[in-house]
Amino acid sequence: MIDLRSDTVTLPTPAMRQAMAAAPVGDDVYGEDPTVLELERRTAELLGHEAGLFCTSGSLANLLGVRLLVEPGQEVVCDVGAHIARAEMGAHAAVHGLTMRTVASTNGLVDVDGYGAVLAPNAGPYLVSTAAVAVENTHNFGGGTIQPYESLAALGELCRAQGIGYHLDGARLWNAHVATGVPLIDYGRLFDTVSVCFSKGLGAPVGSMLVSSAANIAKARVWRKRLGGGWRQAGILAAGALHALDCHIQRLREDHQAAAAFAAAVAEQVPSAVDPASVETNIVVLDTGDLPAAQVAAAALEQGVWVSALGPRMLRAVTHLDVTTEQCVKAGGVVATLLHTLL
Ligand SMILES: Cc1ncc(COP(=O)(O)O)c(C=O)c1O
Repeated sequence: MIDLRSDTVTLPTPAMRQAMAAAPVGDDVYGEDPTVLELERRTAELLGHEAGLFCTSGSLANLLGVRLLVEPGQEVVCDVGAHIARAEMGAHAAVHGLTMRTVASTNGLVDVDGYGAVLAPNAGPYLVSTAAVAVENTHNFGGGTIQPYESLAALGELCRAQGIGYHLDGARLWNAHVATGVPLIDYGRLFDTVSVCFSKGLGAPVGSMLVSSAANIAKARVWRKRLGGGWRQAGILAAGALHALDCHIQRLREDHQAAAAFAAAVAEQVPSAVDPASVETNIVVLDTGDLPAAQVAAAALEQGVWVSALGPRMLRAVTHLDVTTEQCVKAGGVVATLLHTLL
């Protein structure tokens, strides 16, 4: 089975398991887990922020990061395909009472003018006030696209000028950093709050980090506990994340090459499905044309290739630590032959 559903399906490597088993641990709710403290310090430093909060998931880190910037009854503005809008089960509204307004985008990319047209700080008493903008880099449902640094900086200036907050969902910021060479700290400093994940391309089994000012993180620590997210000897998990920071960032290049090879294998037979030049990182989005994506995904699965149907005509394949380029080329050939035969 070649599993390209997501980069979250990776298993910890033997070296990562060893690091996890050997980690010094303590009770993190008491602030006594040295490995968690080290991961929080190190990630905050990498991203140019004062403090970090180790969280169970990217969804939790986003939930807390956005809440730091937006009060109940206010809105956060994001793009229509944003993970926070589509895939966090409405948590921002259901748990924190925020509303969310979405702007159109192409492949998830920031259109500064598009945001400028909808931001409405201090819009009361008849309209909802915008309190923050949230962007995603790389953009998952956009196809692993990288936000141009200049757009992120310009949108940040706009937010500052309007007196609103700026959150980054950086679940795959590592991929953007490796692909562009833009230092993580340069990305991080543009934002008030940033979430990053260790459990995606970096291959750790569990864990994400929220970084921000020390005062913000102190508040988020209370809210995390309120949500049942206070954990005890979490250093076992933090050790996996530290190992990933040390050993798995630069190798993301291999995932990007594998994704390009997968796309090329598909395009060779079915050019209308994907333009290989559009593949920027480890995610490939395929257009199944007149075919229902779910049908193609089911047929691929029968032939040992696991991809996700994310829309009526949209398939997604994600490369990662546990698949080789050769496997991705093979998988691309299987999907291409299916599309070619069924179309
Ligand atoms: C862009 C993005 N943000 C946030 C998340 C949420 O991460 P988690 O699954 O750890 O909650 C994901 C998950 O795939 C994601 O792709």
